[in-house]
Amino acid sequence: MKLRWASLMLLCCCCLGLEVPWTWLRSHQREAAALRESINRHRYLNSFSYENSTAFYGINQFSYLFPEEFKAMYLGSKPAWSPRYPAAGQTLIPNVSLPLRFDWRDKHVVNQVRNQKMCGGCWAFSVVGAIESACAIQGKPLNFLSVQQVIDCSYNNYGCSGGSPLGALSWLNETQVKLVEDAEYPFKAENGLCRYFSRSKFGVSIKDYSAYDFSDQEDEMAKALLNFGPLVVIVDAVSWQDYLGGIIQHHCSSGEANHAVLITGFDKTGNTPYWIVRNSWGNSWGIDGYAHVKMGGNVCGIADSVSVVFV
Ligand SMILES: *[C@@H]1O[C@H](CO)[C@@H](O)[C@H](O)[C@H]1NC(C)=O
Ligand SMILES: *[C@@H]1O[C@H](CO)[C@@H](O)[C@H](O)[C@H]1NC(C)=O
Ligand SMILES: *[C@@H]1O[C@H](CO)[C@@H](O)[C@H](O)[C@H]1NC(C)=O
Repeated sequence: MKLRWASLMLLCCCCLGLEVPWTWLRSHQREAAALRESINRHRYLNSFSYENSTAFYGINQFSYLFPEEFKAMYLGSKPAWSPRYPAAGQTLIPNVSLPLRFDWRDKHVVNQVRNQKMCGGCWAFSVVGAIESACAIQGKPLNFLSVQQVIDCSYNNYGCSGGSPLGALSWLNETQVKLVEDAEYPFKAENGLCRYFSRSKFGVSIKDYSAYDFSDQEDEMAKALLNFGPLVVIVDAVSWQDYLGGIIQHHCSSGEANHAVLITGFDKTGNTPYWIVRNSWGNSWGIDGYAHVKMGGNVCGIADSVSVVFV
């Protein structure tokens, strides 16, 4: 019945010269082809698993996408240059001795993992996550703040088509915009018109921010995390399309930054020390929404552009 209807539609539309059913058929074939390609890619990625702790790759919510589709939809961060630490204008990092393991989640100052859906707004999710945690570290309640407000209002970025966390931070710092609560201005996974609120409305503005290049200085980076709170970083996340768990250490270049995420901690207790990285692809991705990335060696370019926010 359904099939006959479809062929009828096909026939009609062919007569009319419309392409709709063809696209519909092609999209299923396309998904199947993307899945076959993903499975081949997983086999290749997993063939390097010579240590138990190394990352493993397989079927997840992105396996029906070709890598170029995945990149276009989910890797919406623009690269951003930051000066090497220490440089003029950067906040100095107090010396502290590093514990073997530290995670801001243990202090209950990190919100649940969010889902950017089909919106290339990772740059806004990472920055808003950092601000939420910075507030909670100061003893204020751990609120969900509005990512949509940043997507709609940060005029120096491109909303769901992409942006840079540094652009968002400089906009927040210059305008002193107050981020309202998420429930007040909820996420809708598409661009919208910027909504304005009265100055008296509850909201969080930032006091300052600082951006660093910590390549070859990941211990300094860990001290920044300990002193200031979760770190906004931009990584090359092309291979994250297939990530299921374990410590990413082999298939991640540091050449091309394209995805913004939030580091909440690190773990040096095992053979391979790693960063604990909160993503914005929902909690079914990776390790409950998180990825583990090897510390040292600037894996995925994780130390190239690191920012902290002060509230
Ligand atoms: C690999 O796993 C086994 C068993 O889980 C463990 O005994 C061994 O120490 C691990 N090797 C490394 C290099 O971590
Ligand atoms: C930082 O502190 C550690 C001990 O906590 C000390 O060993 C080290 O020399 C200090 N580094 C600097 C640069 O002061
Ligand atoms: C943020 O704004 C303050 C106040 O205008 C300014 O002093 C500071 O330099 C700004 N921070 C950055 C990193 O531009």
